[in-house]
Amino acid sequence: MKAASLTTGKKVRLPNHIAIIMDGNGRWAERRGLPRFEGHLAGLESVRSTIRCLNNQYQIKYVTLYSFSTENWNRPEDEVMSLFRLLEEIVDKETLELHKEGVKIRYLGHLQELPQGLQLAINRAIELTKNNTGMTLSLAFNYGGRTEILDAVCRMIAEGISPQSIDEKLFNNYLYTAGLPDVDLVIRTGGELRISNFLIWQSAYSEYYFTDVLWPDFDKKEVEKALLSYSQRQRRFGGL
Ligand code: IPE
Ligand code: IPE
Ligand code: MG
Repeated sequence: MKAASLTTGKKVRLPNHIAIIMDGNGRWAERRGLPRFEGHLAGLESVRSTIRCLNNQYQIKYVTLYSFSTENWNRPEDEVMSLFRLLEEIVDKETLELHKEGVKIRYLGHLQELPQGLQLAINRAIELTKNNTGMTLSLAFNYGGRTEILDAVCRMIAEGISPQSIDEKLFNNYLYTAGLPDVDLVIRTGGELRISNFLIWQSAYSEYYFTDVLWPDFDKKEVEKALLSYSQRQRRFGGL
């Protein structure tokens, strides 16, 4: 929990970990009579500006971006391939700048199912930034919350962990997000009111912010609205 000034001039409580479901790229393009790919391309600018804003202006410590779900394999192959290409491009292009800003890059999901070039780009980014102490930026790409939980269970069984020793803390250590704090705020753009298999364990007590704004239209002002909304929530965690 931190305090900072939003445009209201007031000191407000900020989230420590923000997770974003970046949705609405396709509709953004369709509304302009463009191919869906153009929406994904336009969404890259929102990725850049949102990361910069959360890092430089608000010093948010953990940001997790949902950019491809295990269910997104159900899309036409050319869209899937173009998303892979775009991610490879942006990781390659942005890593150096993020590194200079002290950002540590992490990956959440099944990396080995992705094309070789993309795997290499992600691994390079992780390796280069591994000792950074600024914002931790996690990329949930080919990520599914249910798969993550099943993977954790399988690893625990394979390691012969006894049922008596299993508690929430131990379980956390077997998730892709091991070492990351629980999510404080989940933002979903694009108007859908669901979580689409995103961080289902880690967001058990998150605050949610849903907006109709499509991801390519999500800018600094929209970041500010989400943070302001969060700052006005009363988190009780079951208490009073
Ligand atoms: C989000 O935008 C990006 C991904 C899921 C990869 P969509 O592609 O889902 O855009 P809409 O929801 O169809 O508008
Ligand atoms: C959720 O968006 C996944 C990402 C943003 C990566 P989708 O567009 O895939 O979600 P559904 O299909 O509307 O639930
Ligand atoms: Mg969508």
